[in-house]
Amino acid sequence: MQKIVEVFDTTLRDGEQTPGIAFTREQKRTIAKQLDRLGVDIIEAGFPISSTRDSEAVKLICEMGLSSKICGLARLLTKDIDACIDCGVDMIHIFAPTSEIQREHTTKMSEDEVKEQAYQMAHYVKDKGFLCMFSAMDATRTRLDYLIELYKTAEEGGADILNVPDTVGVTEPFAMYELVGAIYQAVKTPISVHCHNDFGLAVANSLAAVKAGAKEVQVAVNGLGERAGNADLAETVMGLNSIYRLKTNIKTTFLFETAKLVERFSGIQIPITRPIVGENAFAHESGIHAHGVIEKSDTFEPGIMTPEMVGHRRRIVLGTHTGKHSVEKKLSEIGVSPTKEQLEEILERVKELAASGKKVTDDDMFTITEVVTGEVSRQERVVTLKELSVMTGNNLIPTASLKAIVRGKECTSAQMGIGPVDAVIHAVQEIIKDEIGGDVKLKDFRIEAITGGSDALAEVIVGVEKGDRIVTARGVREDIVMASVEAFINAVNRLMQE
Ligand code: KIV
Ligand code: ZN
Repeated sequence: MQKIVEVFDTTLRDGEQTPGIAFTREQKRTIAKQLDRLGVDIIEAGFPISSTRDSEAVKLICEMGLSSKICGLARLLTKDIDACIDCGVDMIHIFAPTSEIQREHTTKMSEDEVKEQAYQMAHYVKDKGFLCMFSAMDATRTRLDYLIELYKTAEEGGADILNVPDTVGVTEPFAMYELVGAIYQAVKTPISVHCHNDFGLAVANSLAAVKAGAKEVQVAVNGLGERAGNADLAETVMGLNSIYRLKTNIKTTFLFETAKLVERFSGIQIPITRPIVGENAFAHESGIHAHGVIEKSDTFEPGIMTPEMVGHRRRIVLGTHTGKHSVEKKLSEIGVSPTKEQLEEILERVKELAASGKKVTDDDMFTITEVVTGEVSRQERVVTLKELSVMTGNNLIPTASLKAIVRGKECTSAQMGIGPVDAVIHAVQEIIKDEIGGDVKLKDFRIEAITGGSDALAEVIVGVEKGDRIVTARGVREDIVMASVEAFINAVNRLMQE
């Protein structure tokens, strides 16, 4: 197997072909910068001939001076290749349909015509002095002896890397292993693999291809891409890293933030159960699991992959399956040690609240604890909101002005944000900076429920972090901005409670 596996990211090309996604130019630049910071070897920035929008974006990315190589996609046509060259790419990815079904119903090219064009165009790219990747589109449904002949021809034309796409995601790991193994035996040029996820096997197929000799995996952040998407970057990289013990150039601690960035820009929410970057990837609720993890995290986590390795965090969540160890642990963090009977009662009440369909926040549990132990928190609320006004509109930058009492002192602040909630959170952060410190971060924000009509109650749950502690709290108001600020301030007050 390869010692270092190259990561070729296609979030900005195949990922952008996801139905419903259209990144803005600025978003593309920000994603490219993040991919570079993450350490991907090659960024496929777009398909320049397809539109001016694409060619301008590819050009902009090429001008960024990133360490990752920049690649552009091209059909087996000189005008497509020239369009890539005009953008200033490092690598040109030439492709053509090769399976009978795709040739007959798309390009109408014969097997021999594809072979001839592949040779000519690989030669053309190399002659112009660029790196050349050749893809036999729909390789997994292409006649094997022809496919091998074709790759050999592209190799003769000078291709630097041969890509094996499972274009419609129909293969499985054993078949992929055999296919890549056969190509690997037949050619000397490095092999790349591009797997789609129609049967949920894109990552497994990519790993099998690496086992069979592929040097490079093509992936997309959050598994974006045509139909069910491409192999997910984080899952593929961590599979290589932690299961196969192979190296990549990826700085895995940036995986979570990269996924979150692309989630925000694409508008496609990461499912909570998504491996590695999903909200629940390292979350534990049930008594046995949480107890085990509190004692030693490897008991109910892979161990070979930790939340720290991928820039995520472990969470003990309160719910109907919570056990006493979780409650005890959370209370000990704020210096509260209830008696055995009190602990049982707190646990019972937490479970009751969860059974009623409520998401139980840390703040809820602390309030229950105060009621059960009869001890209201020793500390005063650190922050109390006095006044808030927010300006927003289509021609305005949302701005929040806020007055609050912070440790007995009246403070005011006015801050801007991307939206009204963002502006308010900035204003609170500004106000508490001197008294509490500037490292209070909003880590999680969810609108849990908005019921009824436009006058309905909005329920916001936030996770707020300071140092290595994170506290969840709720705000419920008719006004969503007020619910958000209430939740944030509740969490800040709990964080300051010791
Ligand atoms: O899925 C595919 O075959 C592609 C090619 C352009 C490599 O995206
Ligand atoms: Zn694809």
